[in-house]
Amino acid sequence: MVALLDYPMFVVTTRVGDDRAGCLVGFSSQVSIKPSRFLVGLSKKNHTFRVASSGATHLAVHLLSKEHRDLARLFGSETGDRIDKFSRCTWWEGPEGLPILADAAAWFAGRVLDRFDLGDHVGHLTDPVGGNAPDRFDDLVTFSDVKDLEPGHEA
Ligand SMILES: Cc1cc2nc3c(=O)[nH]c(=O)nc-3n(C[C@H](O)[C@H](O)[C@H](O)COP(=O)(O)O)c2cc1C
Repeated sequence: MVALLDYPMFVVTTRVGDDRAGCLVGFSSQVSIKPSRFLVGLSKKNHTFRVASSGATHLAVHLLSKEHRDLARLFGSETGDRIDKFSRCTWWEGPEGLPILADAAAWFAGRVLDRFDLGDHVGHLTDPVGGNAPDRFDDLVTFSDVKDLEPGHEA
């Protein structure tokens, strides 16, 4: 059933000091309205998870338009264990020094409130503290656009 769902994909970035990390994420959802809460699942194998676990207080969550699906490939098929993804894309320093992708269709920064062991992923519960989104989206990158990518790390 879930393999047939065509949900939106996100690029989640974080930083601790000068260490920046980010990966493509499908396991994510709004989980509360009041208070507003958003859950991000990071694979325990990923470089992004290790940086996030090394004291990251915030995550940035981005949506991509299909026009920028190359960013989904960069963040989903490459690993920060081997390359510096941030030398291959345009970004700026946002809230809490988070790397914000300049070509994102929308983004928000969230403070990490809690972490939950979910199995092979760890859920990061965030409190959105700021961001930017247009009035409407055109064509967002969804699971069907990226399902054939080879992940930088197997989950
Ligand atoms: C379709 C698809 C969905 C993915 N979903 C997630 C996810 O929900 N959480 C996650 O941590 N990684 C997910 N990944 C895997 C990472 O994006 C990928 O392994 C990435 O290269 C890890 O980069 P890093 O080692 O620099 O963190 C997904 C990859 C693909 C192709």
